[in-house]
Amino acid sequence: MSGELAEGVNSLEKIILREPRGSSAEVYLYGGHVTSWKNEHGEELLFVSSKSFFKPPKPIRGGIPLCFPQFSNLGPLDSHGFARNKFWSIDIDPPALPTTSSSKAYVDLILKPSEEDMKIWPHSYEFRLRVALGPGGDLMLTSRIRNTNCDGKSFTFTFAYHTYFSVSVISEVRVEGLETLDYLDNLQKRERFTEQGDAITFEGPVDKIYLSTPTKIAILDHEKKRTFVVRKDGLPDAVVWNPWDKKAKAMADFGDDEYKYMLCVEAAAIEKPITLKPAANSIPRESSRVVEDPLLWLLYVQVSWIFGWINEIRRAEDIVEQC
Ligand code: BG6
Repeated sequence: MSGELAEGVNSLEKIILREPRGSSAEVYLYGGHVTSWKNEHGEELLFVSSKSFFKPPKPIRGGIPLCFPQFSNLGPLDSHGFARNKFWSIDIDPPALPTTSSSKAYVDLILKPSEEDMKIWPHSYEFRLRVALGPGGDLMLTSRIRNTNCDGKSFTFTFAYHTYFSVSVISEVRVEGLETLDYLDNLQKRERFTEQGDAITFEGPVDKIYLSTPTKIAILDHEKKRTFVVRKDGLPDAVVWNPWDKKAKAMADFGDDEYKYMLCVEAAAIEKPITLKPAANSIPRESSRVVEDPLLWLLYVQVSWIFGWINEIRRAEDIVEQC
């Protein structure tokens, strides 16, 4: 770890990562939850609700909740599973990551089930999370999940990095990279539809699971002249969520008007749940959903931001790749 341990809201412990050029990130041990990501100008790039409780067992509202081992209510567990409601530990001796990243600002966290937890989800696992800041201020999250069941049983899970992006105002935002894709509409009993050909804009509540999405998705904020680029691996789906006014009012930990200033774009594995066999010796990164003899499953997301109003996702990618 190369961060500093500090006291967060309600005395919850957090780790602050600082990158020499000035960008920073904060990660709470509660939930393994990233709550802040600032660029080198000190501007906050993630949305956290002013009404968030920061009180276990309620999850933090905003930042990057981890949805594991269940996305939403697609199973018997509480919404989005339990990883976001657990206290994680700092992983002092994590196995090396197969990465060439030059990041020096990072922290490794680990979550393992307690006996109590195993009554809710009867599987033994190690969930390792690395949160890193790249030299250009990119935020990178890597999840490695290992099945440590001794009885030889596989387990199956769904997953999402439930990222809340901070936006100037939702009417000025559009998302590129999801055009013409099929999606399941959570607001219409998860019926399957096909998205139209234009970039996605927002005029009302949205809660869609886009399927088989590209590895890069861009969120363009015209007002702020800022583009976020989400790059992902091992996560074929992408959820786009904004509760809009009615649902915002019904949420106790969310301000009535705050829906205007956030947009969730979530890198996810939902439609085809991941089945993980007990640990052996491979690191699969491909789309095969039943993992043979895995030591680790690597789920990776990198978010970057760039200034400038970019018309085409391809241009956005070019710029990020130069960083
Ligand atoms: C999104 C789901 O990922 O999370 C929505 O698609 C859900 O259906 C939203 O309402 C927030 O969930 P929660 O459990 O944090 O209130």
